Amino acid sequence: MKSSIAALLGAIASTLAQNTPTTQTTISDIADRATTVEPYSPVSNVEGLAFNRLFQVWFENIDFENAAADDNLKWLASQGIALTNLYAVTHPSEPNYCAAAGGDTFGMDNDDFQRVPANVSTIVDLLDTKYIAWGEYQEHMPYPGFEGFNYSNQETYADDYVRKHNPLILYDSVTENSMRRRQIKNFTHFQQDLANEKLPQWAFFTPNMTNDAHDTNITFAAKWLRSWISPLLTNDYFMNDTLILITFDEDRTYRKTNRIFSILLGAAVPDYLRGTEDDTFYTHYSVIATVSANWGLPSLGRWDCGANLLEIVANKTGYVNFDVDTARLRLNQTYPGPLSNGDMSKFSPDWPNPVTDAECSAGHGILDIVKRTYAGTNPSYNYTSPFPYDSKSGYNVDVTANRKRP
Ligand SMILES: *[C@@H]1O[C@H](CO)[C@@H](O)[C@H](O)[C@H]1NC(C)=O
Ligand SMILES: *[C@@H]1O[C@H](CO)[C@@H](O)[C@H](O)[C@H]1NC(C)=O
Ligand SMILES: *[C@@H]1O[C@H](CO)[C@@H](O)[C@H](O)[C@H]1NC(C)=O
Ligand SMILES: *[C@@H]1O[C@H](CO)[C@@H](O)[C@H](O)[C@H]1NC(C)=O
Ligand SMILES: *[C@@H]1O[C@H](CO)[C@@H](O)[C@H](O)[C@H]1NC(C)=O
Ligand SMILES: *[C@@H]1O[C@H](CO)[C@@H](O)[C@H](O)[C@H]1NC(C)=O
Ligand SMILES: *[C@@H]1O[C@H](CO)[C@@H](O)[C@H](O)[C@H]1NC(C)=O
Ligand SMILES: *[C@@H]1O[C@H](CO)[C@@H](O)[C@H](O)[C@H]1NC(C)=O
Ligand SMILES: *[C@@H]1O[C@H](CO)[C@@H](O)[C@H](O)[C@H]1NC(C)=O
Repeated sequence: MKSSIAALLGAIASTLAQNTPTTQTTISDIADRATTVEPYSPVSNVEGLAFNRLFQVWFENIDFENAAADDNLKWLASQGIALTNLYAVTHPSEPNYCAAAGGDTFGMDNDDFQRVPANVSTIVDLLDTKYIAWGEYQEHMPYPGFEGFNYSNQETYADDYVRKHNPLILYDSVTENSMRRRQIKNFTHFQQDLANEKLPQWAFFTPNMTNDAHDTNITFAAKWLRSWISPLLTNDYFMNDTLILITFDEDRTYRKTNRIFSILLGAAVPDYLRGTEDDTFYTHYSVIATVSANWGLPSLGRWDCGANLLEIVANKTGYVNFDVDTARLRLNQTYPGPLSNGDMSKFSPDWPNPVTDAECSAGHGILDIVKRTYAGTNPSYNYTSPFPYDSKSGYNVDVTANRKRP
């Protein structure tokens, strides 16, 4: 009896320790966890309307024109579809990664050590409704589920893995679950999952600070990307009905529009569309909405709800996307919220409430736990809009959108 209580207390203590990122700072602690924490690689085979896998690879801080002019990116675009009207949602990096997982920035205007409370759901809650296997591959993350702020090159101390480029690790609803933490892995584990044919159906890839252009430039990063991805593009297992999105977190020049050059690749791109361009308006939120529409999943009830769907899926569901007049659209900062430190947006203590009663662009309503958690609250924004706006703070209120003509 006594020993089982001790074991239970021990288990609770170690769970708490793992959930307190500040305890993970010593190198010996990290080395210890690297030998004991096992990666987890679930697999599934849930058929989607337009693809059976979605893999995104994010690069850093390049203006649209500079990315579009790079020879290696031009070559990759010739193998797929260039998205010429996709926007990041704010500056700096971290709120964009945050948006890709949870459908909101929560007013974040910084790259600080942030945690989003457990009552906020993410893309993995959507995927879990149909047991669609997911994972993240973060280059040089020292062990699965590492919650620390950074893991630098241990010889040069140059920036290598950084938490601010890891979408799921920001969410307590992900990190409070040890199984979920172990699905957040590094590139070594990617090579293993590939070799073992244990890739998930949804994955987010973050190259390290050298390869993602953050500490180098687009010439370097695109050369790295082409050499990394070329063998994968001829790998039958990797390519099997896979859609790959190559994109950037944000543009470099804050006074520009935050339009980012993006490419769709993979066997899920029909041959007749290879080498074409798509000028439909998209944002980072469109990717969550597209995943929902592809697999028949609900929405988070945040900005994914009204977001345009990638045409590769919209064409299958019959959803008519919006044409957004981008002349007055400002996505180079965000609206007030609890994760603002007052630099570029204003601080507001209130966590935004999602919409709980909309059909959304994917057409499958809102996730059950979101409906239960936020029952009886009013949505903080008009989340059914294809672009973020906030009438209280006057953010993007004079932007107009109309359904595309078929
Ligand atoms: C990946 O994580 C494992 C621990 O699971 C660690 O042993 C390995 O060194 C990491 N790889 C890299 C390149 O950081
Ligand atoms: C994190 O970055 C700081 C500043 O560069 C560095 O001193 C520290 O060693 C890094 N931590 C780890 C675990 O790599
Ligand atoms: C980033 O990863 C590459 C290998 O892909 C490695 O050559 C490079 O040294 C890493 N960057 C740092 C700062 O360690
Ligand atoms: C990137 O850096 C390399 C090496 O410094 C340089 O040769 C190249 O011209 C740079 N590319 C761009 C787009 O600035
Ligand atoms: C592709 O996926 C299908 C299931 O959707 C499977 O039957 C087939 O073996 C896979 N092919 C390869 C080359 O992995
Ligand atoms: C955002 O863009 C507008 C218009 O180009 C500019 O006036 C404003 O200063 C920019 N905001 C930031 C934070 O750079
Ligand atoms: C979607 O349909 C439109 C109109 O038929 C067509 O022009 C476009 O190429 C299609 N796009 C994709 C990705 O299937
Ligand atoms: C969600 O959690 C935040 C932070 O703990 C809290 O302020 C907010 O009231 C919660 N929302 C709901 C609907 O419970
Ligand atoms: C919310 O956004 C949608 C799509 O732009 C628009 O049709 C609707 O009128 C908006 N609702 C409100 C209350 O502003």
